Amino acid sequence: MSDFEIRTLRTDEHRAASDLFRDTVHFHPATDAEWEHSGRAFQPGGAIGAFDPELIGTARFFDAELTVPGGARVPMAGVTGVGVRADRTRRGVLRALMTAQLEDFSTRGVVCANLLASEAGIYGRFGYGLATRNRTYRVDRTRARLRPDAPTGGEIELLDADRAWEVLPGVYDRIGRRPGMMSRPEVVWRLYEAQSRRRSQPMKAVVHHGPDGPDGFATYFVEGLEAYPWTKELEVPDLFAATPAAFAGLWRFLLGVDLVDRIVAEERPLDEPIELLLEDHRRLIENRIGDEHWIRLVDVPKALAAREYGPGEPVVVEVADVMLPGNSGTYRITPDGAERADGPAALRLDVTTLAMLYLGTWKASALAGVGRIEVRDAAAPAAADALFGTRSVPWCGSHF
Ligand SMILES: CC(C)(COP(=O)(O)OP(=O)(O)OC[C@H]1O[C@@H](n2cnc3c(N)ncnc32)[C@H](O)[C@@H]1OP(=O)(O)O)[C@@H](O)C(=O)NCCC(=O)NCCS
Repeated sequence: MSDFEIRTLRTDEHRAASDLFRDTVHFHPATDAEWEHSGRAFQPGGAIGAFDPELIGTARFFDAELTVPGGARVPMAGVTGVGVRADRTRRGVLRALMTAQLEDFSTRGVVCANLLASEAGIYGRFGYGLATRNRTYRVDRTRARLRPDAPTGGEIELLDADRAWEVLPGVYDRIGRRPGMMSRPEVVWRLYEAQSRRRSQPMKAVVHHGPDGPDGFATYFVEGLEAYPWTKELEVPDLFAATPAAFAGLWRFLLGVDLVDRIVAEERPLDEPIELLLEDHRRLIENRIGDEHWIRLVDVPKALAAREYGPGEPVVVEVADVMLPGNSGTYRITPDGAERADGPAALRLDVTTLAMLYLGTWKASALAGVGRIEVRDAAAPAAADALFGTRSVPWCGSHF
């Protein structure tokens, strides 16, 4: 029996939730000036709190759409701002917040919830599985050159930050979405704006204009390194390109920015062809792979039915979901789709492992090999690899 109450926060309680969350991740609370912007990153009705009777824990979400393999878009909840006051941890507050949030998601028709985890050990128990990964790479700008045959064409337009916040949402919406990408509602852009205003250096943005209009953009900051302030790094938190020419055009611009020693491109897709674009791929001086989105299939039947499957022998899988037991059951996956089925399952897995399979990042055979999937038919892992495999590497590209 918990000795705290969970309820939805009123708008006038959002700032207290923000202060609490920021404290749990060891940041100062927002100043009045910062709150004017970061307060806009809260979706009304999207934040919950745990009270004992003071606010001791919080979590929030925003509504968006997630693109799944095959291109369909499903209702998604972006979960963020999760924190429990340091003197109230490890007594079930997060579990209560997660339970309340998942029940709410399931009644409001959310198919998939997404989050970025501060630590890998937290969210698996609530059904979230690591579903996309990314890489952060650093380029030695002083020596990096694009290959002479890299695509050309298009124009670059430089925007200041105020103009960027007006223009970038429209450009983002024009970029085709790979599996794992999401729509960016207003609250996400306001979050990025609030984050950029906290930086000591101004944010700049460039838009690439191709033959059919804007087809790519990048945002960047240039800062001196703390230990070597004369060494300048250009940091790229956001870069999207609809075509190879837009990707090359954006990189041609970034490599040409004066007074910069290195470029750090953060949280990029694993298959981005930067090495192929450079004359000397060893000018990529660091390449670090990290976790990106953890997803929670809130409505397993709808999620499985929404995505496309590759060619392969049909497989019957049995899914176990302790927190949302309505998802538990047997599903038949075929190249033509997925639906509930009777009969013996060839593979048994929990909903967390299904989340890892869902967007195509991990192979069923690999998950079976490490014991995360119970195999009842030896041919089934290879069949599931073919069914769940995707043509492009899943990636979201939106950090919240
Ligand atoms: C992570 C955090 C929210 C957990 O809150 P909490 O109220 O202590 O969590 P609970 O007591 O409800 O724990 C639920 C379960 O998660 C486990 N758990 C909690 N924090 C964990 C952590 N950091 N790593 C691994 N397991 C963790 C608990 O052991 C418990 O496991 P069990 O259900 O198997 O017994 C809290 O420690 C916190 O605010 N941390 C700093 C901010 C942060 O990292 N927020 C997450 C942002 S994505």
